[in-house]
Amino acid sequence: MRTISSIKKAKNSTPLTVITAYDALFASIFNQKVDMILVGDSLNMSFGNKPDTLCATLDVMIYHTNAVCLGAPDTFIICDMPFGTYTDKKTALKNASRVYQETNANAVKIEGGVQRAHIIKTLTENSIAVVGHIGLMPQFVRSEGSYKIKGKNEEEALQLIKDAKAVEEAGAFCLVIEGVKADVAKRISEAVSIPTIGIGSGNATDGQVLVWSDMLGFYEKFQPKFTKRYLQGADLVRQALDEYVQEVQTRKFPAKEHTY
Ligand code: KIV
Repeated sequence: MRTISSIKKAKNSTPLTVITAYDALFASIFNQKVDMILVGDSLNMSFGNKPDTLCATLDVMIYHTNAVCLGAPDTFIICDMPFGTYTDKKTALKNASRVYQETNANAVKIEGGVQRAHIIKTLTENSIAVVGHIGLMPQFVRSEGSYKIKGKNEEEALQLIKDAKAVEEAGAFCLVIEGVKADVAKRISEAVSIPTIGIGSGNATDGQVLVWSDMLGFYEKFQPKFTKRYLQGADLVRQALDEYVQEVQTRKFPAKEHTY
């Protein structure tokens, strides 16, 4: 199982692998297969069918994090702090402490760069391990109006580098870079000494993260350019269901071997 120090040592080495999980069953399949599992607030969309991540609550995140920790006891688990749960230092400490007290998560993840550095500092000073998240930050979708790729000009690139450095200085041990132009994500990775985990940010980061339902082909509403389907999960499930329905209707199932 990964530790914070082994994750830090993975900087400039074999890329770290991260996948999201929301339940014990899939987490048990992912257990020990990847370096880290993220209980992302993306569950609000792919699991809860909501239009964005913003209405995920801390109770919901704690419920799913518990399930994932039980399913994958040998994997480093990160719990996403949902929107509105780290608006100031006191609130953040109270809520992140709940994650540590009520689950076995190893770390929490917080969206935001320079503007959230003081929050990250408070948590790390209170022994809570933090993963940062900069670039395209899904929790900003309503205030920004849409999901926008970041790092499209030099001003944005310099701001992102500032953000990454602030997150590192505040004590985060790892940094997610989402939806950033690949050349800028590379510059960010070179500017900090903590490992960077990219999503939609090219292949020069120190690791990659994908949402499980995207990479296994279960989320069919749309397929962002940056994801790759390693399995046609929904198609396979439909094929299995067709076979089940057909066998039940023709009394082929249950057969003798399924009967007491
Ligand atoms: O919520 C999530 O799944 C995430 C990843 C996309 C990094 O934050």
